[in-house]
Amino acid sequence: MQALPGFRDFLPDQCAVRNYIFAGWREIARRYGFVEWEGPPLEATELYKKKSGAEIVEQLFNFTDKGEREVALRPELTPTLARVIAAHEREFKKPLKWFSIGQFFRYEKQQRGRLREHFQLNCDIIGETDLAADIELVALCIDILRAFGFTEKDFVVRISDREFWTDFLRDKKLPAERWDGLLQAIDKSAREPREKTAEKLGDLADPVFATLKSGGESARLKQLVEGLRARGLADFVAIDVGIVRGLAYYTGVVFEVFDRAGKFRAIAGGGRYDNLIAQLSDGAVSMPALGFAMGDVVLGELINEISRAREVMQKALGDHSKIDLYVVIAKEQRRADALAQVQQLRDRGYRIDYPLTPTKVARQFQAAEELGARVALLYGDEWPQVKIKNMGTAEQELVGGDKLLGRLAELL
Ligand code: HAM
Repeated sequence: MQALPGFRDFLPDQCAVRNYIFAGWREIARRYGFVEWEGPPLEATELYKKKSGAEIVEQLFNFTDKGEREVALRPELTPTLARVIAAHEREFKKPLKWFSIGQFFRYEKQQRGRLREHFQLNCDIIGETDLAADIELVALCIDILRAFGFTEKDFVVRISDREFWTDFLRDKKLPAERWDGLLQAIDKSAREPREKTAEKLGDLADPVFATLKSGGESARLKQLVEGLRARGLADFVAIDVGIVRGLAYYTGVVFEVFDRAGKFRAIAGGGRYDNLIAQLSDGAVSMPALGFAMGDVVLGELINEISRAREVMQKALGDHSKIDLYVVIAKEQRRADALAQVQQLRDRGYRIDYPLTPTKVARQFQAAEELGARVALLYGDEWPQVKIKNMGTAEQELVGGDKLLGRLAELL
């Protein structure tokens, strides 16, 4: 039996990488004053049908549950967040700055950087229309990647404005029902053959291609870049009106993060969705919002690719799998005494291992080495004294029970 296509098994080393990524996400989100929250992994399919857009609905892992409800494993967090905010908005002071780390499911064609499950960090600001919030959010996204050891040479945040395109479509007198399809075609234009995009755009093909080529003009985006410049972060961003985002609910500034070499899929993406909460609550609650999500899959690939980021990770992971102490039971009569001390030492926070069954002393020292123990404690003929072996220097000494803790504190 194997895992399903697009699903991963996390063996201990992969789990360590995953936890390292989560710890980095959590630390920097907190540095920006974001608080953690979480939603359920299963939602009513309707939640995504209502607002995520056609592409995501096609990718749903959905089924009918035993109570005849149409349900789906969450493909993203934003609709859940909008649902939760609409229900609890009054309980919190605005603006809210919330982050969440969780697993998401999309029935995608499995390819490099895209699986059928992945983890995301979501960071969202709710209840603020000012561009200061957009600047803060992009700065957070940049700082998270900087914390993993990346520089402006490794990644770029491509920023755009959906309004730039909706103004364009309005100018061309296009009915609003066609906007979603056209925006999606523009979003995909960099990844698809020109003819395919041209076919979807019809009459608009020429003006859209011309605008993509010239880059367009946007006072708001310029202001956003200036805000980042003031923080010394302007080298991490580029205005790129070719970014439109695949999800249907975005209304204003949108952005996506890519590796500079252009080797990988998007590392993160987000933007403003000022109407989603009102739409999901049928107008009961209206609240501006913006956010982004960063996935673990491409981020992990990029960490492996960029040597500086790999070193930062290796340093942080360092001795995650190592233990502090190995207890060598040289005489089985001493096992109970040894285990009593193992218990005390574990209570003090030391990471300890010992042989569960009678084992030759040489094998026990071998295990101590393999597990990366810095100190071995030998319980044998010398009892009530214990022999301490420094595994690094091979020096040995005998200590009495009451001196043991003090000596270990010096050694570890
Ligand atoms: P998204 O662009 O669909 O945005 O996903 C965000 C990130 O999740 C992507 O840039 C990518 O790193 C990762 N990701 C998405 N799908 C997959 C996949 N199949 N395999 C691996 N990684 C994947 C959203 O989900 C929005 N809800 C983000 C947002 C939050 N907007 C506002 N707030």
